[in-house]
Amino acid sequence: MNIRPRRNRKSSAIRHMVEETKLGVENLIYPIFLKDGKNIKEEVSSLPNNFRWSIDKLLPEIEECMNLGIHTFDIFPAVEESLKDQVASYSYASDNFYLEAIRQIKARFPESVVMSDVAMDPYSSDGHDGLVIDGKIVNDETLPILAKMSIAQAQAGVDIIGPSDMMDGRVSVIREALDGAGFSDVSIMSYTAKYASAFYGPFRDALNSAPKSGDKKTYQMNPANRREALLEAQLDFEEGADMLMVKPALCYLDIIHVLKEQFPIPITAYNVSGECAMVHAAAQNGWLNYDLAVYEMLLSIRRAGADGILTYFAKDFAQMLRK
Ligand code: PBG
Repeated sequence: MNIRPRRNRKSSAIRHMVEETKLGVENLIYPIFLKDGKNIKEEVSSLPNNFRWSIDKLLPEIEECMNLGIHTFDIFPAVEESLKDQVASYSYASDNFYLEAIRQIKARFPESVVMSDVAMDPYSSDGHDGLVIDGKIVNDETLPILAKMSIAQAQAGVDIIGPSDMMDGRVSVIREALDGAGFSDVSIMSYTAKYASAFYGPFRDALNSAPKSGDKKTYQMNPANRREALLEAQLDFEEGADMLMVKPALCYLDIIHVLKEQFPIPITAYNVSGECAMVHAAAQNGWLNYDLAVYEMLLSIRRAGADGILTYFAKDFAQMLRK
């Protein structure tokens, strides 16, 4: 044998030297759940080690994460049922606790990067990402609501808008609205290939945002489709998205890979709640090693081509690196 691949694996130093994929805290975006009130830190029962925070408790948590090297946060609001309505009007209300929290985070940590979610579901009495009229999720009537929500978030100081709704044409409507309101520096990371997935369960528990009727299959993508992701990506790219996201991550590594090859802008992936919950459940049973499984999962998402990864493992991973 004159070719022996094992020679390049013979010591830790050599293995590190020839490592093709690097994974660091700088690649991670930490999704965090926010709740109105004071002194709240409630664990999400289906998502161990993840909490609904009130802003007073969240600020020190963000400081801790920043000290661990995590600088980017995606904040999601858990909204009281009584504040929800058909048109998601609370999403841009002047006394919205989510917008107030974004203002406080940016004031206290100007060097942090705050990303927000744009979709109607946390504020909608129907629990859908778009407006429901006569049982249908209507596209074009949803767009102005998303635009208003985006401007309110930009006014609060958000750095990156994350439209997660999957309505057609929303990136250009949001881009135009932001530019028109003087926010041409605010970025858009669009949920480009967002699949109708079984892995969003714990997230919907965290926000109590599950659809009240029906499912999301008329707007989120069919998991069977790959070429359709190219169409979605092309539209979002042409409409002015700064980064394209694939969601979920692990069952869709091929989609991450193909978007990375075909589009000249950063690709991100959302390692969603259900993917995180599976690892916790198995680790709690002693069926796999939590730290090793987390590292291998995140590495695989990077290897597939993701520049950034939204992951509930962000803080644990940052702490692991310190060990
Ligand atoms: C809502 C939204 C969802 C997630 C992010 N934004 C859920 C959904 O579409 O029902 C899921 C994130 C996760 O599961 O971690 N627009």
